[in-house]
Amino acid sequence: MNKNLRKAVIAGNWKMNKDRTEAKALIEEMIPLVKDADCDVVICVPYTNLETALNLTEGTNIGVGAENCHWANSGAFTGEISALMLKEMGVKYVIIGHSERRQYFGETDETVNQRVRAALDAGLKVILCVGELLEQREQGITEEIVSLQTKVALQGVTNEELKNIIIAYEPVWAIGTGKTATSEQANEVCHIIRVLIEKLYGKQAADGITIQYGGSMNAKNADELVAQYDVDGGLIGGASLKASDFAVIVNAASK
Ligand code: 13P
Repeated sequence: MNKNLRKAVIAGNWKMNKDRTEAKALIEEMIPLVKDADCDVVICVPYTNLETALNLTEGTNIGVGAENCHWANSGAFTGEISALMLKEMGVKYVIIGHSERRQYFGETDETVNQRVRAALDAGLKVILCVGELLEQREQGITEEIVSLQTKVALQGVTNEELKNIIIAYEPVWAIGTGKTATSEQANEVCHIIRVLIEKLYGKQAADGITIQYGGSMNAKNADELVAQYDVDGGLIGGASLKASDFAVIVNAASK
């Protein structure tokens, strides 16, 4: 992290976990534990928990995000939620392009780009996920894959709009597997992304953009990961479902 240049952000991605009662309990436990954080704290929760999360976190330092949004403002898209709907209810962040969306729900770089556009147009902050599969890492094409994903996702995004984008580098092989990228591997790819941003948007934008690491980040390894120069926080799955673990990670990024 380099807090002089950019914001550190710790964001929880709850995925498809926690009913309303469980969500309420988790957030109530979390609020006092993270209240003195010296980094931005975000929880991205299932749609059914957004209202609860927004009510409970009002007046706290916790921002609320959704885990996806559609690219159209409204229309015949059964089961989908638009960025405008999220914005209207007070949601601030939205995760776009998570590898689980790409893997299980047919998300492509192009639809990721469309969703990014819609989210920015609605005034949301985007947590844009990119990352390579294990076989792609083994083939030595991590840089190409991550660069392509980032470049396509950001098509049509202006320098000014980029200020509302956080990039999360999430190697797919490290998600939910307990296999964390080493801090060097995490830093290396976060750096590659920053260099690409410099090429596309210039040095100031590259210095200022928050690039998180995600993938089996937990209370034990967070310290070392966020100590890396180009790792500006984390997108946390499993460990964000336990208030005490999430708080340890927030504290690591607060140093
Ligand atoms: P885990 O922290 O459970 O590996 O999940 C990471 C992730 O996918 C966050 O978006």
